[in-house]
Amino acid sequence: MSDMTLPLWFLIAGVLVIVVVGGYFFFGSFAFGAGYQPTPPKVVERMLELAAIRPEEVVYDLGAGTGAIVFRAARQYRARPVAVELEPIRVAFLRLRRSLSSDRSRITILWTDLFQVDLQPAGVLFLFLWPSAMRRLKPRLESQLTPGARVISHWHPVPGWTAAVNDPSTRVYLYRWPECRAAAPPV
Ligand SMILES: C[S@@+](CC[C@H](N)C(=O)[O-])C[C@H]1O[C@@H](n2cnc3c(N)ncnc32)[C@H](O)[C@@H]1O
Repeated sequence: MSDMTLPLWFLIAGVLVIVVVGGYFFFGSFAFGAGYQPTPPKVVERMLELAAIRPEEVVYDLGAGTGAIVFRAARQYRARPVAVELEPIRVAFLRLRRSLSSDRSRITILWTDLFQVDLQPAGVLFLFLWPSAMRRLKPRLESQLTPGARVISHWHPVPGWTAAVNDPSTRVYLYRWPECRAAAPPV
């Protein structure tokens, strides 16, 4: 092997590793319900504002990623967030981030499948999931949400529900349970 081919092989191997690890990190969890894409800060702000969180209220982020919503809800709104995440690298990151946060006592991290979680304690649920996951989640929401709960979804609506607020500029939908299940008024 010449002096030039060794660095070339390192370069090819490095690129392959980045492609495989990056592909897994961003797209691997599509199989469970959504790939990874952090909610942009402006959208997080809008979602939190629409949620009208009360201090000490329990809020769930179903598919919490690296915590864009969770840590801000704890700091800014004094909420008690529950981060539900299945992908282990993101769970490790969430745990590290919590250990460094002054709000760590308020934040719960559940390393589990969001379709197995008991949703009854949630006053607010944040979603940023794939349409098939929204369809699958809907019956669980309908059987477990408690009156007064708010569901705030980014990008995809909950199929068949009527949004109290539909913000096209941020693609955020706010649903109030159980009013969202009522038929939309005739236009
Ligand atoms: C689009 S990201 C949303 C990230 C986060 N909510 C935010 O605001 O930045 C979707 C997340 O859902 C997670 N996810 C997908 N399916 C899941 C499942 N069945 N159970 C738990 N988490 C899941 C993915 O690993 C990914 O981190």
